This record gives sequence, C-alpha cells and structure tokens, in this order.
Amino acid sequence: MAAAISVAGRRVECAEDQSILEAFLRAGVWMPNSCNQGTCGTCKVQVLCGEVEHRDSPLETLTEEERAGGLALACQARPLAETEVALPGSEMGRTTHMLRDLTATVVEVEEIARDTRRILLGLEEPLAFSPGQYVELLVPGTSERRPYSLANTAAEDKVLELQVRRVPGGVASDWLFGPVAVGDRVEVRGPLGDFHVPEEDKDEGEPMVLIGGGTGLAPLLGIARTALERHPDRVMVLYHGVRTESDLYDTDRLAELATTYQGFSFVTVLSRESLPGHRSGYAPDAFVEDVASARGWSGWLCGSPALVDAGVKAFKRRRMAPRLIYREKFEPADGRVPLPRYITNPQDGS
Ligand code: FES
Repeated sequence: MAAAISVAGRRVECAEDQSILEAFLRAGVWMPNSCNQGTCGTCKVQVLCGEVEHRDSPLETLTEEERAGGLALACQARPLAETEVALPGSEMGRTTHMLRDLTATVVEVEEIARDTRRILLGLEEPLAFSPGQYVELLVPGTSERRPYSLANTAAEDKVLELQVRRVPGGVASDWLFGPVAVGDRVEVRGPLGDFHVPEEDKDEGEPMVLIGGGTGLAPLLGIARTALERHPDRVMVLYHGVRTESDLYDTDRLAELATTYQGFSFVTVLSRESLPGHRSGYAPDAFVEDVASARGWSGWLCGSPALVDAGVKAFKRRRMAPRLIYREKFEPADGRVPLPRYITNPQDGS
C-alpha cells in the first residue's frame, strides 16, 4: 500500500514497490545517496514519526542498534504508514534533479583503450543531472542494473557518454563487450549519486586537483569541463592513473583542454611501466611530489578504494581541508565477481 513520506516539510507519495530514496528523488527532493544498493550508508535517515520496513537493508550497513535508534537506509526502506524522516546536515528538503526512467538508443560504440569502450547513448528527451553523477543501465535480457558515471557536462544532456572497462564474467560486460550494437535500446535510470560539482553560486573558482584511476576518469571529465567553463582562469591539475600506456585514453581531449585553458594541466601516471612522457608509480604520489601545498584547493577522487584512500591521505598531507575532498569509489560487489558499485564517502573530516 502506498504511504506518504515527508522530509523538511516536503511530502511525497511512496508507492509500494518504491524505496524512500526513490520516492523523494522522483519528486525532485534531494536526499544523500551513492550506491543505491544498501552498501555505503550514505542515505541513512532518522525516522521522526511513522513506521518503516527495512526490507533488504544489510546488518553491516544498518546495525540492530541503529534500527532500534530509529535510523533507516532510505535506498532500501519504505514507509508502512505516514512517516516523517530527517537528514543530517542543513540541506534537508532541497530540490534536486528528478530521478527518471528513460529509454536510450546506443548511438556509438568505440574502443578507446585496452578492454575499455566509450558507449554513447542517445535520449529522446534530455536528462537533467549534475556533472559527476551516474546512471544505472538495465542489462538487456536480465533484471540486473549496473551503475556508470556520466562523462558529460550538464549541457550535453541528450547523448550520454559512458566509459566502460571490461569485467571478466560481468553480466554487463558480457553485453557491452559482446553483442551490443548501434541501434540497441536500453533502459536507463538516473541521475544518482552525490559526486558532483557544487552549485554555481558556491563555486568560487578555487584551484582543483582531480585524480582518476582507469575509467574513474569519466566523471572527472564532466566535472573538470564544467568547473573550467565557470572559471576559465582556474588552476586545475588532473592525474590519470592506469597500469600501462595501453590503458590510457582521452589524452587528446585533455591536451585540448590544456590548450583552451591556461590554468589546466594533466599528468598521466603508469603504475606498471616506465615510459617517456608519463610518470611512473601511483597517481596520489605524483600529486604529493608536484604540489607543495593544497591549502584552499578542492580535491576530487574517483577509482578503486585503494586509489581513493591514498588520494585522501595525499590531499590531507598537502593541507587540503577535508570538507573540500570529494570522492567516489567503485567497489567489487563480492570477492568472486567484481561488479562496479559506487560509493561516495561522506566528507567525514577524518
Ligand atoms: S546505502 Fe543507500 S545509497 Fe548507499
């Protein structure tokens, strides 16, 4: 049975098959979110009154004590009766891009690096999102959804760009590196996630450093281009860390940005090769070598948990304020079949 749910005076109907998060996002009411799968804890809310059913909320993410204390995972729970929830922080009830279901058409499939493809999806109507957010694709012929970051700026809202790395045995990889073809139709849900540039009026043109591991470059391309368009004189350095030269892609695109924007530079870092024109080692270490102080900078990290954790340490070592560190990890879903999962860590100040 549908039930009403409210936050900060904004009240929406939550259908029986919807989570609290989905009901709010579909109505354009923001709620912190990242993995949408009950694994990251970003979407925890306090139930102020009413009653919720926790459904598939894992105990590792929402403990018995937290449940007893009235917390719920908005991406899993649904209201059983009229319910009011509260969010941590001051942005309760603010407006966001509406979560939508759209049908897209594959308009281009391009090999861009070893085991890496660019997939362009054409939409009949534009999708509003903030650069850095992700969408979920429903893998054709299955009931499985997989998240992919958008490499687009907000103006590029009718052709979505995904950068996809092959995952051996992955259900989405089997399609995206197999039978996918131009003209295929695919169901897209989005936008999701909180990894994105701040609102324009909160962006003061501070220097930025971005570190992407592998296809973690994708959201950084949308974020970097947006931030440079807003403040063309901004200082920005982007590190793309990969294993070997054959894993690199979009260096022409980055070189073009460096030509257009005087303050932009990029560094390619190879962890398993030593070749002229590239740094060797780990991208966060290259940043520490290059930048003496990042006080007042913002830092953006997207990639494996190891890369993101190393990046946070590197940024703090160079005196970046924790509140200016934005991060998105993609994690294996389990030890057997690595599936991408997005986790935007709260800026915890640690
Ligand atoms: S646990 Fe709900 S968004 Fe991650």
